[in-house]
Order: sequence, then C-alpha cells, then structure tokens
Amino acid sequence: MSPGSAPTPLTPAPEREEEVRQSLRAVIDPELGDTIVDLGMVRAITVSGDEVVVDVALTIAACPLRSQIERDVRGQIEALDWVRTLAIRIATMDAAERAAVMARARWKAREDAPETAIPATTRVLAIASGKGGVGKSSVTVNLAVALARRGLTVGILDADIWGFSVPRLLGMEGGVEARQGKMVPLEQKVGEGLVRVLSMGFLADEEQAIMWRGLVLNRAVQQFLQDAHWGDLDYLLIDLPPGTGDVQMGLARLLPRTEMLVVTTPPLAAQKVAARAADMARKGYLRVAGVIENMSDFTCEHGTTYALFGSGGGARLAHGLGVPLIGSIPLHPDLAAAGDAGTPVAAGVGELAPLFAELARVVAEEVAPLLETSSCSARLVERVEAAVASGEHQLD
Ligand SMILES: Nc1ncnc2c1ncn2[C@@H]1O[C@H](COP(=O)(O)OP(=O)(O)OP(=O)(O)O)[C@@H](O)[C@H]1O
Ligand SMILES: [Mg+2]
Repeated sequence: MSPGSAPTPLTPAPEREEEVRQSLRAVIDPELGDTIVDLGMVRAITVSGDEVVVDVALTIAACPLRSQIERDVRGQIEALDWVRTLAIRIATMDAAERAAVMARARWKAREDAPETAIPATTRVLAIASGKGGVGKSSVTVNLAVALARRGLTVGILDADIWGFSVPRLLGMEGGVEARQGKMVPLEQKVGEGLVRVLSMGFLADEEQAIMWRGLVLNRAVQQFLQDAHWGDLDYLLIDLPPGTGDVQMGLARLLPRTEMLVVTTPPLAAQKVAARAADMARKGYLRVAGVIENMSDFTCEHGTTYALFGSGGGARLAHGLGVPLIGSIPLHPDLAAAGDAGTPVAAGVGELAPLFAELARVVAEEVAPLLETSSCSARLVERVEAAVASGEHQLD
C-alpha cells in the first residue's frame, strides 16, 4: 500500500472464510490421498478482520505428518495477501471422526488408485515444470544420487517417454531384464545407497521393443509403475516430461500420494508456467511439496556473481504457492559437462556436490521426510481394524 492511499476494504468475513477454505484445499494428506478439507480435518475457520484462526483435527496425536500439515496450512493461508495474523490450533479426532476419515480415505483409495508396485512406505516425488529445458532431469538425477549418498534406496522413473534423458545423465545403459514377466529396473550403487532406474531408454532397441510389444507407449508410465520389480524404495523420483500433460493426470489417478517438486528458473514468465503446472497438480489432488530454483545465478572465474535471469523468482513462486523454496542451483558449467559425461555432479567432489547434498537433506529432513513406520503403527492398526470391521480383509 502506498502512503496516503485508502486501505483496501476487506471483503465480508464469510467470503474470507470461504477463501481460506478454498486455499486449504491445496493441503493434502499424502498418506490418505485427499485434501484436509475433504477429509473433514478442518474443524473450523474463524476470520475476524485480518486475523485467521484455523482448527485442524489430526487422526492421531503423534501423527508423523503433523509438522508437514501445519506448515502447509501456514503456507497456504499466509499466501493470501490480506492475512496479518494466523493461529493454527491442532486437536486430535475422536473415534467417530477417525472412523469417518478412514472410511473416506479407503473409499477414495479404492476408487482412485489401481495397484502399483511401489511400496506403501515409499515417498513419491515428481519433478515438474511448466516449461521444457529448465533442468528437471538434471535435478532429478542429482537429487536421487544425493539421497542415495545418505544411504537410501531411490528409484528414478523416467516418465519422459519420448525425450528420455535419465540414462545419459547417469551414464547407464543396457537392456531391462524381465523376471516373472515384470521389468527389473537397472541398479547402481551410490555410496551406501542405491539408485534404481527405469527408462524408455533401456527398452528402446528393436529386440527389446519386440520383447515388450505389449507395452503401448502411452501406457508406459503405468507399466513402469505396475509391471516392475521396484523392491523396497525409500524414495521414488519421477522425471516428468515438459508441460502440463497427460502424465501428470495419469499419476494423480495411479499414484495419488505423488507429491510435486516444481522446478523453475527465475524469470517471471517461467514462474507463471510453473504455477500452472502446480495448479494442475492440485486439481488432480497432488500435494506440491516445494519449489527448486535452477539456473539462479552465475559466478564467473573471477568470483563475480551475475543474476543472469533476474533473481528471487523461485522465492516468489514458492510464496505464491504457499510452499517452501527448497533450494537454488546456480548456472554452472559443471552441470552441463557432467550431464554429457554421464557422471552426476552430486556423485563427485566438486563444488556442486555439497549443494545437492544440502538439497537432499532439506528434502529428507524437512520437506518430505520418510514416514517412520513405528510412529505410523497406530494408523496401520486403525486401518486393519476398519478393514476388518467393514468385512474387507484385503488392505492394499
Ligand atoms: N544449473 C545448470 N547449469 C548449467 N546447465 C544446466 C543447469 N541445469 C540444467 N542445465 C543444462 O540445461 C539443459 C537442460 O537440462 P535438463 O535436461 O535437465 O532440463 P529438463 O527440464 O529436463 O528438459 P526437458 O524439458 O527437455 O526434459 C541440459 O543440457 C543441462 O545440462
Ligand atoms: Mg527432462
């Protein structure tokens, strides 16, 4: 607001409450695969002037997603420009509320999600952008490698069926073998961890194509998810093709707990397209976990840093989406060179390796931590009880 101008009058409280409710539809419980509004977890929204109080009820007190949900609620509401103060009150559901939520989650899971070969405990992150060439594939492989260096097992699903680049970036080649009629991802040891990869690039030669003649191209992603031996995975990173296409919608249907990491470059135009990609994800009820800014600035050999494409774009997009900015990756010749050589910078000792290690730390510790099976056990027991009570003995 400029000095002397009249304050913008606030819309009536009920309208602002509705606005808060709508923005909370972007907060998704990835475990239950639905928005916290539709799951009935938002008990009350109270708006008075520019102050907002939100009452959220969690299924269990020790909910492993508590801080994530709280952060997402905060991010979404603080992105509304009229909000000055926000209080989030967290409570725990009673047995009846919990039963209703679990029933809805089970119903949604049954409606929406066909079986995949991805374990229920795997955290699934799709790397998206509205525009091509912003560095999705480079971010995917380097983040995967950096997560693997933490001792984790990380799958990479190259969903860019026509323009696959993951095999080249990782320097992996070869054909995918079949075991019991299912594809076995190619595997590479990285530090204490493992990276497992499926890409059309491993199936592209003619012999393979004949072997996989059942694999219809536009169903390839589905087959990569369903007809493959992924084994135990801590993370599955999905390298999406550019644009806001069918693959994103397909993922929302096949694997609704997929979360999106939106890659953007600083210019405003790129942000708008990136925001559109995030919007689409939300329409399909995918949680947006954060923004990664790539090609943010360039430091020349004399140590001078240039913001070639402007600065602050990633932070603005993150704020607008109400999600954290996970990190900024500079424009660096090593990244391009490593891509051509097939040796990801995150695997090496160069100056970019610590940067990706930090990105992986933020992902693994803050943005999308692994769900601790022990603290989830209460939830699993509930699911078993609910399933048994409803006469269903098949859980997943
Ligand atoms: N931070 C960076 N510094 C220098 N070069 C980079 C950087 N990030 C990516 N590149 C280069 O830019 C090009 C495009 O990157 P990449 O293939 O990862 O983008 P993409 O978003 O996956 O593209 P597409 O939309 O075609 O799938 C590659 O040649 C890559 O080496
Ligand atoms: Mg790519």
